[in-house]
Amino acid sequence: MSEPLADLRVAVLGVGLMGSYHAQALATRVKGVTVTVINDFFEPKAQEVAAAIPGARVVTDPIEAINAEDVDAVVIATPGKAHEDQVRACLQRGIPVLCEKPLTTDIASAYQLVQDELATGRTLIQVGFMRRFDAEYVQLRELIASGGLGNPLIVHCTHRNPDVPPHFDSEMMIRDSVVHEVDAVRFLLDEEITAVSVLKPTPTSSAPAGFHDPMIVILETESGRIATDEIFVRTGVAYEVRTEVVGEKGTATIGLDQNLIRTGTDGRWGGQISPGFVQRFDGAYHTELQRWADAARRGTVDGPGAWDGYAAVAVCEAGAEAVRTGQRVEVAMAKRS
Ligand SMILES: NC(=O)c1ccc[n+]([C@@H]2O[C@H](COP(=O)([O-])OP(=O)(O)OC[C@H]3O[C@@H](n4cnc5c(N)ncnc54)[C@H](O)[C@@H]3O)[C@@H](O)[C@H]2O)c1
Repeated sequence: MSEPLADLRVAVLGVGLMGSYHAQALATRVKGVTVTVINDFFEPKAQEVAAAIPGARVVTDPIEAINAEDVDAVVIATPGKAHEDQVRACLQRGIPVLCEKPLTTDIASAYQLVQDELATGRTLIQVGFMRRFDAEYVQLRELIASGGLGNPLIVHCTHRNPDVPPHFDSEMMIRDSVVHEVDAVRFLLDEEITAVSVLKPTPTSSAPAGFHDPMIVILETESGRIATDEIFVRTGVAYEVRTEVVGEKGTATIGLDQNLIRTGTDGRWGGQISPGFVQRFDGAYHTELQRWADAARRGTVDGPGAWDGYAAVAVCEAGAEAVRTGQRVEVAMAKRS
């Protein structure tokens, strides 16, 4: 693409929780974007979201939506199983796509998309790992890269949700929740994860029988560093995401100041914690969408790409096996070409 587009015409596929949020943000807060097409398998939902966006129309078939004449780029927020075909259709048309995580739901299809994108000779796939756009994560990464902590040795992550739907089982905790820490650890340490183990403490009484909640996930990296992630999705409290990096020259923690406000009354600690991920990461989603849109006007993307999506799928596959078997599982990942 030679001249950047003045206005990027975007189709949003899948307008449930995440997609309706993205569609609204693109239509009202992201500069240089017009949402022209809305698609959802559940048509009344598509109609409802489109009705609130001036100029948007509903296209009932997702592949038709991708190929519509008035679409320059696509945001995919359908469930993971639908991503492969929809991302491939974007590649075939040669238009930029922001695909929500996970890139796909199995290693082979994620790797195939990496290869398919390489074959286009362009960079068209961005995966929705929004934490890479969160000011605190960016600051922490810069601190590590600048040597401010010395050699980073250990990363401790905490990921707690107040509640999840009843069907959200232990494997979904890995693939849908821990996937964010998997990408965050790769982003912070700038290296691949090579093995995963999962410890299963006494479950909360709120978890359905047979579900492991909470879990402690242990990630090993190629240089021998360790990251731990406490994943606990039925705390009944709030959305808490924290990360601490322990280095040779000091430690750094994020996720405290933004969420937890010290009141200091009666010499006690108190405050407010974000009720959900949208409130906690609103700024990150906005930056993610704006940077993606700015790049898409030039026919490319600006953020975690197909390889990052593939690596996360591979690590989560190992994590799911570790949950099932109780064993330490090595990550099966191809060499990057
Ligand atoms: N980055 C994040 O923080 C974050 C947070 C939540 C969800 N997500 C991801 O966003 C995606 C959507 O999650 P959600 O929570 O919004 O789910 P959701 O169930 O609320 O919404 C999904 C929507 O897609 C529609 N749909 C299903 N199959 C479709 C298809 N083949 N084509 C078109 N529409 C289809 C459904 O009718 C539904 O309206 C998932 O990949 C999820 O992992 C990311």
